[in-house]
Amino acid sequence: MNRDCPPTLQWIGETDGHLRLIDQTRLPTELVEIDCHTVEDVWQAIKRLSVRGAPAIGVAAAYGVCLATQAGGTIAEVRKACDYLATSRPTAVNLFWALDRMRSVVEQDPSGEALLNEARAIHEEDAAMCAAIGKHGADILVPLFEKATSESIGILTHCNAGALATGGEGTALSVIFELARRDLPVHVWVDETRPLLQGSRLTAWELTQRGIPCTLICDNMAATVMKEGRVQAVVTGADRIAANGDAANKIGTYGAATLARAHDIPFYIAAPTSTIDPALATGEEIPIEERDAEEVTNGFGSVTAPEGVSVYNPAFDVTPAELIAGWITEERAMDEFNLS
Ligand code: MRU
Repeated sequence: MNRDCPPTLQWIGETDGHLRLIDQTRLPTELVEIDCHTVEDVWQAIKRLSVRGAPAIGVAAAYGVCLATQAGGTIAEVRKACDYLATSRPTAVNLFWALDRMRSVVEQDPSGEALLNEARAIHEEDAAMCAAIGKHGADILVPLFEKATSESIGILTHCNAGALATGGEGTALSVIFELARRDLPVHVWVDETRPLLQGSRLTAWELTQRGIPCTLICDNMAATVMKEGRVQAVVTGADRIAANGDAANKIGTYGAATLARAHDIPFYIAAPTSTIDPALATGEEIPIEERDAEEVTNGFGSVTAPEGVSVYNPAFDVTPAELIAGWITEERAMDEFNLS
């Protein structure tokens, strides 16, 4: 994002402070921040997607726990806040990972200072993980540029896995930002991402803020764009990766991966190790959030379906490991998923 853009999340003040967030529901037309002063404020902000993206909701929840200590919270109340924040959204494991870290601190030292230090550490570590993911991801994509016959290399992404979705520069978008920093001619194909348009509202916004060439497409155009030879790789983020490498991400990612396989295009997942859930053997076990029918029938205020029609609105899908050419974490890029 450009220099005038505030951070996605920031803690204002010290232990008596509060959490300030960019309200992502208002982008791209308005860049507005909201302040969360209570645990309930943070829960609501996560639930309604004012803050969204797997790493960002982990960081937001960690700061949310800090707010529990301010109301003179007892240890029991802080534990209760952790349990409550864990009910905000079910799929991204980073939320539970961050809350587990906060719970461990509560057991050792429930002071506001100790909790804030931990939340800040989670935030800073996430930023560092994003930077490392960008470098590893760019390294594996460089050969595409070396053998390119076209003016630019097309990379398709789905949903938003950028600065808005993390405590740093992003995961999938961090790879793209790093390629751009290396002066490699990248062109991003941005899936609009029905029904809530994280691709068009957020990813296209982040890319245009940074002056990175991109083209927005409706999700159902990806097959044609691939067939026309415009996409050389697909890179997305993830909300949870099972022990066998199956990866849950925004609904439509599985479709993009299937199309990529059909067109012989490599599909990569870029995510920090905090997104890996070794407790789940396969993606079948990943809980998938279902959201309100209105997001499909009445998104952004326009009625687009007859009243009362039955709607199925899963917010995520699971891409099986066999469709994934590589997993890019802050530690390394793997062409076979491996927990060790
Ligand atoms: O429902 P959202 O907008 O929170 O979904 C976000 C995604 O699916 C992202 O791709 C994922 O969290 C990775 S963010 C680095």
